[in-house]
Amino acid sequence: MKDFKRILVTAALPYANGPVHIGHMAGVYIPADIYVRYQRAQKRDIIFVGGSDEHGVPITIRAMKEGVSPQEIVDKYHAIIKESFEQMGISFDIYSRTSNKVHHETAAAFFKKMYDDGLFEEKETEQYYDEKAKVFLADRYITGTCPICGNPNAFGDQCERCGSSLSPEQLINPRSTLSDAVPVKKKTKHWYFPLQDYEAWLKQWLLEGHKEWKNNVYGQCKSWLDNGLQSRAMTRDSNWGIKVPLPDAEGKVLYVWFDAPIGYISASKELTAHWADYWCKEDTRLIHFIGKDNIVFHCIIFPAMLRAHGNFVLPDNVPANEFLNIEGDKVSTSRNWAVWINEYVKDFPGCEDVLRYVLCSNMPETKDNDFTWKDFQEKNNSELVAIFGNFVNRIFVLMNKLCNDKVPKFHNDLTDDTDKGIIDDIKNAKVKVEQAIEGFHFRDALFEVIDLARKGNKYLQEKEPWKKASSSPNPEESQKLIDNCIHLCLQLTANLAILVNPFLPHTAKKMCHMMKVEDRMLDWENAGSLKLLSYGYNLREPELLFRKIEDDEIKAQVEKLRANAKVQAENVKAEESKAEEITHKDEILYDDFAKLELRAGTIISCEKVEKADKLLKFVVDLGFEKRTIVSGIAQHYKPEEMPGKQVIVVANLAPRKLRGIESKGMILTAEDKNGKLFLLKPENNVAPGSSVS
Ligand code: 2FM
Ligand code: ZN
Repeated sequence: MKDFKRILVTAALPYANGPVHIGHMAGVYIPADIYVRYQRAQKRDIIFVGGSDEHGVPITIRAMKEGVSPQEIVDKYHAIIKESFEQMGISFDIYSRTSNKVHHETAAAFFKKMYDDGLFEEKETEQYYDEKAKVFLADRYITGTCPICGNPNAFGDQCERCGSSLSPEQLINPRSTLSDAVPVKKKTKHWYFPLQDYEAWLKQWLLEGHKEWKNNVYGQCKSWLDNGLQSRAMTRDSNWGIKVPLPDAEGKVLYVWFDAPIGYISASKELTAHWADYWCKEDTRLIHFIGKDNIVFHCIIFPAMLRAHGNFVLPDNVPANEFLNIEGDKVSTSRNWAVWINEYVKDFPGCEDVLRYVLCSNMPETKDNDFTWKDFQEKNNSELVAIFGNFVNRIFVLMNKLCNDKVPKFHNDLTDDTDKGIIDDIKNAKVKVEQAIEGFHFRDALFEVIDLARKGNKYLQEKEPWKKASSSPNPEESQKLIDNCIHLCLQLTANLAILVNPFLPHTAKKMCHMMKVEDRMLDWENAGSLKLLSYGYNLREPELLFRKIEDDEIKAQVEKLRANAKVQAENVKAEESKAEEITHKDEILYDDFAKLELRAGTIISCEKVEKADKLLKFVVDLGFEKRTIVSGIAQHYKPEEMPGKQVIVVANLAPRKLRGIESKGMILTAEDKNGKLFLLKPENNVAPGSSVS
């Protein structure tokens, strides 16, 4: 491995459009913090930067939903997120925000340099525009009727009812969510970054040069690179974001994924005048901690930007994690299926380390993983309380009882094999934890820490110092044996504090206080030592490191999770039906209606469309011809029950391709309030092709 002089750690900037939840913590911030705390204990030169991502569509949508300005949204959530990180002990050297002046200047200058170097392509394309609100519309800002399932509130990028991904062109009766105006196409100019020009270099640097990256990360990058890269627009039409620093760019801002990673540089600038040492010197080790949805941005786009701009180091590793599910279901902020950190710290005050412990031992390092409240309780009660906490508490109590309230001396001449065994365990634990953390295997590392506590308990059980006191023919020697056992266990406790510190920093601090040692004992070089505590002095009364978590607390959390999701679902439904109530279409003249060619038809055949859950392919007899029509009603009707049924068809609808099948027409349905679709049909059978008016 290269010889690095300093380490620069970044953790993904969360969008300031909501609080952070346990998925964020387990995926990004806890691993980053463990790594950083460990490196600091190693006395390495390291900075840890983070901040809130305050631009982009998610923020403006949230603002629109809450009826406030984007600035109010980011101010509110930045404060909440920052506090949650502090409470959970995420030890950023700086937690900044991308709405800062330094960041605006840094990102704009980065863009300007690339522009001046001729690294962008300038392209004019047609995009949707709201003439009333006088703004270009991101796809998400356009709603209309889904051509697949008929949902009247589908978005320009996706229909949330049937899950189809859409483009605004496919929506029937598209509307701007800002003003309800019908969007029109308008020409707009943007600056594109030709990623394909960096493809060969990326393949060399990443696929050849970083084979040591985690499989999940390497694999995703390889598939992007194998599929070929394309130019990507690095600017957007919006009034929220960093203004494009060019004279002819009114109403244009930098693409949020252009500005956000530059936020790491801006935050470093804010932190230290020596920021350039970390960003520009080749002997810096840059590590990005992120979740899997951010891989392409940190492994392909941002490195290509850094390379294009020049003068910056590239990431040495990007140990991205997979996702954490909750109670078997994907975390979803829109469904409120989440455990929010700001709520956890209120519900379990003083238990921040417990959550750190559970999230680390369940960290989705190689695959998605599940968090359940039952497992949370189990891990707390049977590992933290019963193994770690119990060992520490027991040894303090035994010392007071058997050694006259003082740390006893160690008598070398009386060491036996069991003592030697535990001494080796203490020394080996340091090496094992160290290797695991350096290799980003945080679960294994934590396991080794708990395993040392487990071994401590076993050692005590074997030695049974409490039995030696009463029945010995040689009381002096027995006391020495007791002293040795207690002394070793106390040194083991001090070692546990050092090893657990990166994972459970609040606990390590408490332990130092109890042992009357200064926090600098936690320096990593002290791990493995058997001389961490001197002897002949008394310790403080042991504090309870962890408390038992009761069944009713767990039950309450599970109920809260389900209740929150239920309330959210009801709110969404209410909003949807409100929206449906008020979505009236403009009045039309009879002539407009007369343009529709509606005909009755008889279904001849019907089959499922491969790889499309919602679609059925029909052949309908219209009398004058047999038509292929694709319709999104597969969730409501079985194909085998369709032949012979009569339906009403819009016969002159322009053909559209759905999943590669040309659909010529539309079958009409009515929808009840639960979203169930029913076919429209003539009251009595009529000849196929009969006209409908
Ligand atoms: O996915 C997200 O939440 C983004 N806000 C992460 C940005 S990371 C970085 F590039 F700033
Ligand atoms: Zn749909």
